Amino acid sequence: LASIDVDIAAIAPGQIVTVKWRGKPVFIRHRTPAEIAAAEETPLASLPDPQPDSARVKKPEWLVVIGVCTHLGCIPLGHEGEFGGWFCPCHGSTYDVSGRIRSGPAPANLDVPEYSFLSDTKIKIG
Ligand code: FES
Repeated sequence: LASIDVDIAAIAPGQIVTVKWRGKPVFIRHRTPAEIAAAEETPLASLPDPQPDSARVKKPEWLVVIGVCTHLGCIPLGHEGEFGGWFCPCHGSTYDVSGRIRSGPAPANLDVPEYSFLSDTKIKIG
């Protein structure tokens, strides 16, 4: 399928839901106020692949990223790792709550797919 519609109404704050799009996992994370603050307040100088959180989200509460580690393609585990975002079990890369690489061998942030909000409770990926 070129694009999919996802109902996000039932995704609680703090929860991550994984959907499949073009054969890949996509993580949809409903971020808490604390997670948003952490993502927004991270100094860019501390990031291996510097990108402000605001450039990675359309709404601060919602992070949508492709769930494929940018090192060698494993699927990272949510709510794991030092930065509370994701931890890749293959070689230990850690990502933050903006999906940005923070440590380990992965060279880049988790990719943000093309998506849009169809309403407050529905997104279209692709
Ligand atoms: Fe994720 Fe290597 S594939 S750290």
